[in-house]
Amino acid sequence: VHSYLEESIRPYIDLIDTLRSVGIHKDLALPTIVVIGDQSSGKSSVLEVLSGVALPRGSGIVTRCPLELRLKKVTGVKWKAVLSYRDTKIEFVDSSLVERHVETAQNVLAGKGVGICDELITLEVMSPDVCDLTLIDLPGIARVPVQGQPEDIGNQIKSLITKFIEMQETINLVVVPCNTDIATTEALKMAQEVDPEGKRTIAILTKPDLIDKGTERNILDIVHNKVIPLHKGYVMVKCRGQQQIDEKIPLEEATEIERDFFQNHDYFRCLLKEDKATIKFLAIRLTQNLVDHIKKSLPQLNEQIITQLWDVKNELKECEAGPPNDPKGAKQFLIEILKRFNDQINSLSSGELINPENV
Ligand code: GDP
Ligand code: NA
Ligand code: MG
Repeated sequence: VHSYLEESIRPYIDLIDTLRSVGIHKDLALPTIVVIGDQSSGKSSVLEVLSGVALPRGSGIVTRCPLELRLKKVTGVKWKAVLSYRDTKIEFVDSSLVERHVETAQNVLAGKGVGICDELITLEVMSPDVCDLTLIDLPGIARVPVQGQPEDIGNQIKSLITKFIEMQETINLVVVPCNTDIATTEALKMAQEVDPEGKRTIAILTKPDLIDKGTERNILDIVHNKVIPLHKGYVMVKCRGQQQIDEKIPLEEATEIERDFFQNHDYFRCLLKEDKATIKFLAIRLTQNLVDHIKKSLPQLNEQIITQLWDVKNELKECEAGPPNDPKGAKQFLIEILKRFNDQINSLSSGELINPENV
């Protein structure tokens, strides 16, 4: 990410993170990037390269609670993270401990095993090597319950995902493997349902190295927005496969491997020039999208804050109105209060609801 970009976006990201940290998101929905997709579509792999953070991963249901990943580019520090959930806050500087801490948090919130939970775990990562992004990882969509999971686990996960992606202020990142039938992907359908015009949906096509020979042109048509048009389009990325992970190929090397892959690909080479491929480009695109989104949301946020302030001021006025100074006025004031109190008692005993405006 270019430095001019960083400088121009930093204040917005900070503003949103600050608002979120004081709990404003409970009243006002703030823009956030949400990552959704089928199990094993590559969500954790994408998040891992974007964040430089090794997240819990594997086959089956690994992400069991929403995980908010707040990345902050901080120069002059090594690597530092703060994990928080409920009343717990853990600071650590060893990046290899992320998996263990997240797993512990999930066990506390969702119980040991294969259950899911909608309580948020927040991981703030400060490092010179990350982009300024806030992302939320969600459990992957599963169709068939595994042993120990309730029959309706698929619906539970879908309603958890819906709760996040239906908010107008989210950017929905839909992760879809190239080696599946992209047009029938459940996650894409869910995103389309909550965002029919595709204004806040970006699709990420993973595993381009695993496609069936002969399907390249179809996939290119999809990336070129000819099949399922999305306003914000598609980006193709190649992450590390299981073998490269087992061989412990470092992320930097994986980035080079990714670039070489696209440069040498007969069909997908063109995507480099079109800015539609690689994780690096995805990171830039995401950051720009987030900033655009925040800029657009600011007037609306402002309006919501003004409305709430107005309400609070009105309530305050009611409390502040004390008795006037002259004895006659004070007596009248007391009578008014007693009369209102009496009316409320009467309406209570007659079973009517109290009008909150008069309380
Ligand atoms: P998640 O369940 O959606 O979080 O998926 P993961 O990120 O855990 O990925 C599932 C599997 O797909 C892992 O074994 C990854 O190594 C592999 N994978 C992810 N992206 C790619 C890719 O671009 N190419 C290849 N060959 N494998 C990938
Ligand atoms: Na997985
Ligand atoms: Mg995962």
